[in-house]
Amino acid sequence: MATRWFVTGGAGFIGANFVRGLLARRRDSHVTVYDALTYAGHEISLDGCTRTGRFALVRGDVCDADALDAALRDASPDVIVHMAAESHVDRSIHGPAPFLRTNVDGTFRVLEAVRARPGLRVAVVSTDEVYGSLGPTGRFVEGMPLAPSSPYSASKAAADLLTLAYVHTYGLDAVITRCSNNYGPYQMPEKLIPLMILSALRDQPLPVYGDGMNVRDWIFVDDHCAGIELAAERGRAGREYNFGGECEKPNLEVVETILRKLDKPRSLIRFVTDRPGHDRRYAMDIARATEELGFRPSVDFETGMERTLRWYQDNLDWCAAVEDERHRTHMRANYERRLEAGAEPSADRAAPEETR
Ligand code: NAD
Ligand code: TYD
Repeated sequence: MATRWFVTGGAGFIGANFVRGLLARRRDSHVTVYDALTYAGHEISLDGCTRTGRFALVRGDVCDADALDAALRDASPDVIVHMAAESHVDRSIHGPAPFLRTNVDGTFRVLEAVRARPGLRVAVVSTDEVYGSLGPTGRFVEGMPLAPSSPYSASKAAADLLTLAYVHTYGLDAVITRCSNNYGPYQMPEKLIPLMILSALRDQPLPVYGDGMNVRDWIFVDDHCAGIELAAERGRAGREYNFGGECEKPNLEVVETILRKLDKPRSLIRFVTDRPGHDRRYAMDIARATEELGFRPSVDFETGMERTLRWYQDNLDWCAAVEDERHRTHMRANYERRLEAGAEPSADRAAPEETR
């Protein structure tokens, strides 16, 4: 079992939950977080970790090979969990360059660092979005051809393929995890669920793209973290593992659930111009992860949502800290025109993209 963990992107949403969980449950674990602390990475999300005496935060860029090498020399890990990424589809549409840099070149640098250290294992954290979009039926299965449709998902697919090439060519000890949409504490309020929670709490409009019928397979973040841990320790090199919550929901249903639980009116919903190239439906087949790793999602949507709502209501200071100028600039660029236009749902209905 691994004891020394090196987590790139560990100050982000999934990273903070992963690191906190590991330190709390495994008293023999030591965790180094290597993170550039971009707009999405926050030291406060890791508050309290230092007190364990088994934690270090190194501010560094995965694209900086020398800094990465120095941090790895100091940390001397058994395993790297590589989750540093630019992660937001809308931002990738406004400006793809940082996605190519961090997700492709950054993953290349991580793979090179692993290649230089025989015996070191890496789990590359990827996404269901590399498979593209589903029609009304079927699920994504590992081994399907990749068909990414946004600059974000294309950059993640490139990273996956590079990882597989390193396993094939150099015998790298690498696994790939692909997960569906996560929700839970510490998620930046630019993503659907935290954005809708905070907007509802503030009685502000809830911007729903297109007709609101795009479907995502929601998983509570702790379940994804459990899957990453399993894959990192038990996964077979060169193998991809799908994780999902077996919880498909159209966006509109998610938004209505939030409003109902917060006792806010449905009139806060605002249908706005759709996201260009918006994938219609994602759904994961998790049979491989279940059979080979013993993975099962354990938190149902009701429970996960209650926990998430309570966390945001109790952590408005965290929200204020992360909603800084970088966040506000993105929010203006992404929503100002959409909200002014006040598109009606019928005028704006998304054409279903049924690529499979
Ligand atoms: P996030 O945006 O919340 O966090 C990303 C972290 O990476 C931040 O801490 C950021 O500072 C750091 N980072 C960005 N660029 C970096 C660089 N050049 N060098 C070092 N650190 C850098 O993302 P997240 O939602 O926590 O996602 C983590 C990983 O999981 C990503 O690889 C993402 O593609 C994948 N994933 C996310 C989801 C989801 O629903 N959020 C689902 C499936 C897969
Ligand atoms: P998001 O949280 O950005 O995750 P992803 O694009 O990676 O799936 O979006 C989840 C879904 O919610 C997606 O179908 C787009 C939709 N969405 C809205 O309708 N309004 C919004 O303001 C946001 C951010 C997303």
